Amino acid sequence: MCGIVAYIGDKPAYPILMKGLQRLEYRGYDSAGIAIMNDKLHLYKKKGKVADLEAFMEGKDYQGNIGIGHTRWATHGEPSDANAHPHFSKTKSLVIIHNGIIENYSALREELKKRGYKFKSETDTEVLIHLIEDIQVKEKVDLFEAVRIALNEVIGAYAIVILSKDNPDQLIAAKKGSPLVIGVGNDEYFLASDASPIVEYTRNVVYLEDGEIAIVSRKEDLKIKTIKNKDKTPYMQELELKLEMLEKGGYDHFMLKEIHEQPRSIRDSMRGRLNAKKGLVTLGGIKDYETKLAKAQRIIIIACGTSWHAGLVGEYLFEEMARVPVEVEYASEFRYRNPVILESDVVIAISQSGETADTLAAMQFAESKGATILAICNVVGSTIPRTSHAGSYTHAGPEIGVASTKSFTAQITILALMALQVAQEKGTLPRSKFQQLLNELESIPEKVETTLKSNDQIKYIAEEYKNATNFLYLGRGYNFPVALEGALKLKEISYIHAEGYPAAEMKHGPIALIDEEMPVVVIATKKGSYEKVVSTIQEVKARKGKVIAIVTKGDKEVKAIADHCIEIPETFEAFAPLVSVIPLQLLSYHIALMRGCNVDQPRNLAKSVTVE
Ligand code: F6R
Repeated sequence: MCGIVAYIGDKPAYPILMKGLQRLEYRGYDSAGIAIMNDKLHLYKKKGKVADLEAFMEGKDYQGNIGIGHTRWATHGEPSDANAHPHFSKTKSLVIIHNGIIENYSALREELKKRGYKFKSETDTEVLIHLIEDIQVKEKVDLFEAVRIALNEVIGAYAIVILSKDNPDQLIAAKKGSPLVIGVGNDEYFLASDASPIVEYTRNVVYLEDGEIAIVSRKEDLKIKTIKNKDKTPYMQELELKLEMLEKGGYDHFMLKEIHEQPRSIRDSMRGRLNAKKGLVTLGGIKDYETKLAKAQRIIIIACGTSWHAGLVGEYLFEEMARVPVEVEYASEFRYRNPVILESDVVIAISQSGETADTLAAMQFAESKGATILAICNVVGSTIPRTSHAGSYTHAGPEIGVASTKSFTAQITILALMALQVAQEKGTLPRSKFQQLLNELESIPEKVETTLKSNDQIKYIAEEYKNATNFLYLGRGYNFPVALEGALKLKEISYIHAEGYPAAEMKHGPIALIDEEMPVVVIATKKGSYEKVVSTIQEVKARKGKVIAIVTKGDKEVKAIADHCIEIPETFEAFAPLVSVIPLQLLSYHIALMRGCNVDQPRNLAKSVTVE
C-alpha cells in the first residue's frame, strides 16, 4: 500500500528515486511523484504508473542530491495528479511522502480549515503536512520537534519522510504501523518502504521501529528519537537480499518467474529444517515454543487472502498429523467479533508481506488476551514477525508479482513442517508413517518441477477458455483450499468471475450455474475422496459443463470423461496442494495474458494491504 523512497548524499537523487519507485511499484501503482531540491524545491507528480511519471519528467529540472519519491495505492481520494504524493505544506517550504492512514484526519482537517488552510487534495497526508507546518510556525520549533508534536496528535498508521526547503541537508522520517528501512552508506542515506531500492547501494540497514523518528543529516550519524523525545541507538543489520532476486531473470513477468521458482523456494523453506535421513524436523525459530505448541488445546490460524487458503491446508495438516483442533480465521473478521481466546491457545499468523493490517491487528488482539503468537512470514524484518513471540520465515525470496504464488507453497511447506514437528513431539504418528511423510515432503520440489513441464498444455487450454465469463473450481479434502486459491488467482489477474467450492457442495447450489458455457476446474487427484470427486465430474458432464481436471499421472477414469486432463505426479494426500496448485497458477497466468491484462500489477490491487 504505497511505496516511499528518499535519498540524501553526494549522488544525483533522481535516478535513485526513479529506480526505487520502479522496485516499489508492486505496493501501489495509481499515481507517482517525486520532490527534488537544488536551489529550488521541485515537485512533480502524475496519475498513472511510474513509467508515466518518468515520461512526464522529460525536460524537467531534476538535478539535486536530496529528494523523496512515492508510488500510491489510493485510500483517501481517487487516483489523480492532485491526490498523488508528495504534498506541499501551505508555504511550500515542506514536502511530505506518506504510506498509511491518518484516521483522525477529518477532525484535523476541519480544525485547520477553520484556521484558513486550503486543501489542494482529498488526502489525509496533506492534513498532516499542514499540521506540521502550523506547529512549526506557532510554536517556533525546529522541524523535528514540529513532527514530534504533530505525531502525538495523530491517530493511525504512517511511514513518512519530510524534506524542508530551509534545510536541504536533512530529512526527517517517522514510522508507526507502516514499514520504513534506512540504508546507511558512505556519507549517504537511503530510506524506503522495503530494502529493494537500497540493496544495490548498501547492505547496512536500520529498520525504524514504531513510534520512532529518524533525523537523517548529510555527513552526520543517523539519529533516532522516539515521539516521546527519548534517544535511541540505531541498530544496524546486514541485508541478505540479493539484487538478482529483484529482477525478472529472463521471464516475461515476475509472476511467471515466481511460479517457476517454486521447486527452489519450497526446497529453501525446508533447508536445515527437514532431515529425512535422520528422521528429524527442527524449526529453529519456534524451538522455545515447541512444548507450548505440543500442549496447545487449540491452534487458531489467522490470515487474509492466499495466506488464509494456506492456513486452511494447515488446519488439515495439524488436525491429521498432530491431533490438535484448529480454527482458521479471516483476520478481518476475527478481530471484530469478540472471539473466545484462551491463554492456552497458540495463534499462528500467516503473511507473505508481514504488513497486512488486519492480520497484525488480529494477532495483537489475541496477544492482549494472553495467547501465544507465532508467525509464518516471508519478508524478513517486517512488522508481523517482529510483533510475534516466535515464528518461521518461509525463505521464498522476494515475491514481486501482486498475485501470490510461491509464497502459498512456501507457507504450506512451513505448516507441514510445524505439524510434523508437533507430531514428533507428541508422538501422534507411528514412526514409520512419520518417516514416510518426511521422505515424501523432501521429494516435493522435484514433483513441482515435473508439473511445471505442463506449461504448454496449459497454455493451449487457456486459449480455449480465455473468453469465459465464469469459472467454477472444485476440490475435496486437502484440495478444497486449492480450489479456493485457483479461483482467487483467476479473478484477481484476469478479472473473470470465479468461485471455489468443496466439490460435494456443488449439488447444494452452484450446480444451477452449469451449462455448456461453464468451465469447471476439478482437482481430482488419486487418494482421499477420488471416487466421490469422479461422481461430481459426472454430474458436471451430465449438464454439459466443460471439465478441466487436475489428475494423478496415469489416471484413466477421469480421462475418459473430462474435456482436458492435466497430469501431476502422485504424492501423499497431505502434500497434494503443493503440486496441484501449480497448474492452476499457470492457467490463470496464461488466461490473464491472453486477455491483455497486466499480470504483475492487476487493477485495484496492491501487494501489501496496510489498511483495514
Ligand atoms: C492474493 C494475494 C492476497 C494476499 C493477502 C494477504 O494473490 O496476494 O490475497 O494473499 O492480501 O497478504 P499477506 O500474505 O501479505 O498478509
